[in-house]
Amino acid sequence: MSFDALSVKAQFPIFHRYPDLVYLDSAATSQKPASVIKVLSDFYSFENANIHRGVYDLSAKATDKYEEVREKLAAAFNANANDFAYCSGTTEGINLVVNGYLLPHLEKGDEVLITAMEHHANLIPWQQACEKKGAKLSIIPVKPSGEIDMEAFENKLSKKTKMLAMVHISNTLGTINPVKILTQKAHDLGVPVLLDAAQSAGHLPLDLQDLQVDFAVFSAHKLFGPTGIGALYCSENFKDQLKASKFGGGSIKEVSFEKTSWMAFPHGLEAGTPHIAGVVGMGAALDFIATLDLEESFAHEHALVTQLRQELDALGGIKIFGNPSEYAGIVSFEVDGVHPHDVASFLSEADIAVRAGHHCTQPLLERMQVPATTRASFSIYNTEKDVERLVATLKDLKEFWE
Ligand SMILES: Cc1ncc(COP(=O)(O)O)c(C=O)c1O
Repeated sequence: MSFDALSVKAQFPIFHRYPDLVYLDSAATSQKPASVIKVLSDFYSFENANIHRGVYDLSAKATDKYEEVREKLAAAFNANANDFAYCSGTTEGINLVVNGYLLPHLEKGDEVLITAMEHHANLIPWQQACEKKGAKLSIIPVKPSGEIDMEAFENKLSKKTKMLAMVHISNTLGTINPVKILTQKAHDLGVPVLLDAAQSAGHLPLDLQDLQVDFAVFSAHKLFGPTGIGALYCSENFKDQLKASKFGGGSIKEVSFEKTSWMAFPHGLEAGTPHIAGVVGMGAALDFIATLDLEESFAHEHALVTQLRQELDALGGIKIFGNPSEYAGIVSFEVDGVHPHDVASFLSEADIAVRAGHHCTQPLLERMQVPATTRASFSIYNTEKDVERLVATLKDLKEFWE
């Protein structure tokens, strides 16, 4: 494999400060490369001004920088620049679709279809909308393998379905869902599709034209960018139907005391002073991603998690949740007789950062009949050595606990 994880890792200052850190929590947030940190620092140091309203040079330049990130999104995800509205991240993006598209269209007796492996961010907003309108939140079950039950999906999808919302890569199980197949079947019945790409954007080649989804959302902080910023993709067909649900300055055409008219998507959704530096930082993260070959970097993450799955199996006394045929660099496991929080604390003593808990997928864990798991999640800066350190420390833990 030609992917050089060590030279990639060298671009992340945190590993210079903490050379022994084994960071296996990239599903929660990725580390940031020096190029992104520099762009953020330069923006606040030398380029800071509010956008869209100033005629002076700094403001015009800040506006250009802010707007040109849409081009970078378009290039990264194979779409058009004006298909992307900025938002604070995946959670806000989903809420914008729920409030701005779904609620005005949803009626009593309608259904919204989601999978049982959704993050709370892609569950609660739909659930609240259904509750408000007397609609039903319908759940596609997940098999013990960690894969969507396709037969159940086909049974649940119907003319009553007003939206299919699904995660691309499960943040708990690592499953890669067959988005294209599900989207095609939904579209055959005229059902729009929202894709939660929080764990896939930046990890694998994400081609929105090819997937044909109607909405897609992700957070920059999981793809080497800053927190508090992300993007909402909306396909051409839905732009007029996605209404503003956040109101204020910057997003309007005309305002009188009697009424307001809004700019078209995307600007109509971006009321208020946005996270300008965040957008610029997200642009730097997209530039960084453009230097990678995502097929190769994905293969690297996949190889690491495959190695981990095999070594955990070989160790014994460890249960891995799910064994999907298509998976990304995320694995959830349980060490026999040891609470996941104790596992994470023990690993932390050895400078290994993993996450323990329900990973914001409580209903999924309930179906798996566990209150919590330990989760290791990989990124481009992880190496085989990281896997070896994790496995060796788990071995120590098992001996210590016996
Ligand atoms: C699959 C998935 N969806 C949504 C989210 C929510 O992302 P954010 O908190 O950045 O809005 C996460 C975060 O972990 C996630 O993994």
